[in-house]
Amino acid sequence: MKDAFGREINYMRISITDRCNLRCRYCMPEGIQCVPMQDILTFEEIERVCREAVGLGITRFKITGGEPLVRLGCPALVRMIRRIPGVCEVTMTTNGVALKQYLPELLVAGLDAVNISLDTLDREKFRQITGFDRLTRVWDSIDAALESGLRVKINTVLQRGINDGEWEKLLLLAEKRALDVRFIELMPIGYGANGGMVSNVDLMRRIRERYPQIEPDATVHGNGPATYWRIPGFEGGVGFISAIHGKFCTRCNRIRMTAVGEVKPCLCYERSFDIRHALRDGSGDEVRETLLCAIQAKPDMHCFEEREAVTERRLMAKIGG
Ligand code: GTP
Ligand code: 5AD
Ligand code: SF4
Repeated sequence: MKDAFGREINYMRISITDRCNLRCRYCMPEGIQCVPMQDILTFEEIERVCREAVGLGITRFKITGGEPLVRLGCPALVRMIRRIPGVCEVTMTTNGVALKQYLPELLVAGLDAVNISLDTLDREKFRQITGFDRLTRVWDSIDAALESGLRVKINTVLQRGINDGEWEKLLLLAEKRALDVRFIELMPIGYGANGGMVSNVDLMRRIRERYPQIEPDATVHGNGPATYWRIPGFEGGVGFISAIHGKFCTRCNRIRMTAVGEVKPCLCYERSFDIRHALRDGSGDEVRETLLCAIQAKPDMHCFEEREAVTERRLMAKIGG
């Protein structure tokens, strides 16, 4: 259905846990309390929300976390959602640590595509950024996912002075592999507000100097806000998610739900609608009505460029990006 600004809302991001097996500083630093299990929506509750969402025209679902694969039975949930009549796509965003292990089950469950977060190709830097020495496992997962035929995108957040010098090495992952490398501007959510963002305008300037033949790619690669480019000779593509320097809100097509059932109209603002209450204590129609309220409450745009106006106080790991 359309929101108040005439945008077609057809995509829902569902965080199924706020737990993670890494501790990326900008997303989920050490010492963060996780919510108790009884507050987390059950798979049956999530499936019910998805059924109601499909009824409103939402046919694409992204499973996120925390790290979605640390929740026991995650492939079963993918299967449950994928089987709902009317669902077009179920995709997942993962840090890749456990992906190889769950890949066979996810494929059988009907997962359509996977986004794997990877900020560095250097083992020691990976440990510094994520807190764990698990680069090899992520690599193995990327290889396994590509071999399986799943559509694969790499999510890279560049941070000034930490991994921005690695942009070309990361970009080159797309040279001989059929995957997209996407550069995401660090957003001022949670610890991301501490700075270090690398502008995608500056990054594009550097990429153009090195690869002047880069050209826009209008084909659709997913449901999110990225814009895509091609470098002739490269097998994969290059994507940019430029929340700050390339505001994409006029194209917004999504709502998101946290693991405890807060339905968020926009990533930038704290406002959310409690669907857990509707599921557990509400009348039959309340789940659908909660989704409708969230869609109708979508603002026209975010205000990340104006820090004081950002009202979201949750960490990215609690929202799922
Ligand atoms: P696909 O295009 O289908 O792969 O989905 P996606 O790009 O939405 O998925 P992913 O989970 O990989 O998200 C990549 C980045 O985009 C994350 O950093 C998200 O926080 C960011 N993102 C996704 N949706 C939004 C949005 O509505 N607003 C903003 N500001 N960022 C978003
Ligand atoms: N800004 C931009 N992207 C972020 N991610 C996590 N925190 C932030 C942030 N503050 C990214 C992760 C992952 C995706 C789900 O969101 O790197 O790839
Ligand atoms: Fe976990 Fe992803 Fe956050 Fe890293 S960025 S702590 S992998 S949720």
